[in-house]
Amino acid sequence: MPGDPRRARRIAETVLEDARLVTEVRGVLGYTGTYRGVPMSVLASGMGIPSVSIYATELFRHYGVRRIVRVGTAGALSTSVALRDVVIASAAHTDSSVSRLLVDGVTLSLAASYRSLRAAVDAAGTVEREDRHGPDAPRGRAGSGGGSGGGSGGSERPAVHIGPVFSSDHFYLDRPAVLDALERRGTLAVEMEAAGLYAVAAAEGGEALAVLTVSDHVRTGEALSAADRETGFDRAVRIAAAALLP
Ligand code: ADE
Repeated sequence: MPGDPRRARRIAETVLEDARLVTEVRGVLGYTGTYRGVPMSVLASGMGIPSVSIYATELFRHYGVRRIVRVGTAGALSTSVALRDVVIASAAHTDSSVSRLLVDGVTLSLAASYRSLRAAVDAAGTVEREDRHGPDAPRGRAGSGGGSGGGSGGSERPAVHIGPVFSSDHFYLDRPAVLDALERRGTLAVEMEAAGLYAVAAAEGGEALAVLTVSDHVRTGEALSAADRETGFDRAVRIAAAALLP
């Protein structure tokens, strides 16, 4: 699930095989096809927790979907995370009510599916090897990039980080103290959907993960150009598609 419908179309055209358009209600494009012989679909989520929650609930509940990977962009929060890096969200903190309203008296932990998380970390290693040596290169060391909190370390290749993100209801959040406190607690990046997706997956008995490309830095104000966003996004999609394979 990318946020943007145009990205859904691009994934259908460039990653899926035999993809056919199955919905365009409200301009939210959805395609069904296969990937390496496995049934796989792509549906835009729209922006924010309410939007992703509706679509993800219906996919799990009514369409037999078992696993959803969000592919999107995020703003780096930690100084160890650079533009173009990939953040695989092991958990999602949120200022949305989803963590509080679902089980009375309990603040839910909103976490990625371990199976999907592990598959994405493995896939990130494969994607990194392919980028470095081409698709037929022999397997080298496992893992990729700097790992959690690793940073790009001066390398031109984007690093892959695994850790918590902050799914905010506020794109223009003017609360530096909140961001400082989250960063001190190891939060890598800010985005707007992962916590909703993880809450829905928990409620519906499905699996969920978010694989995010860092498009901007909330501390420095740096941002990727539109072209660089798409290149980085393609990398996250390759990781996500591989992670979805059984
Ligand atoms: N998605 C990409 N960049 C973001 C940011 N800075 N805040 C929230 N969501 C984002």
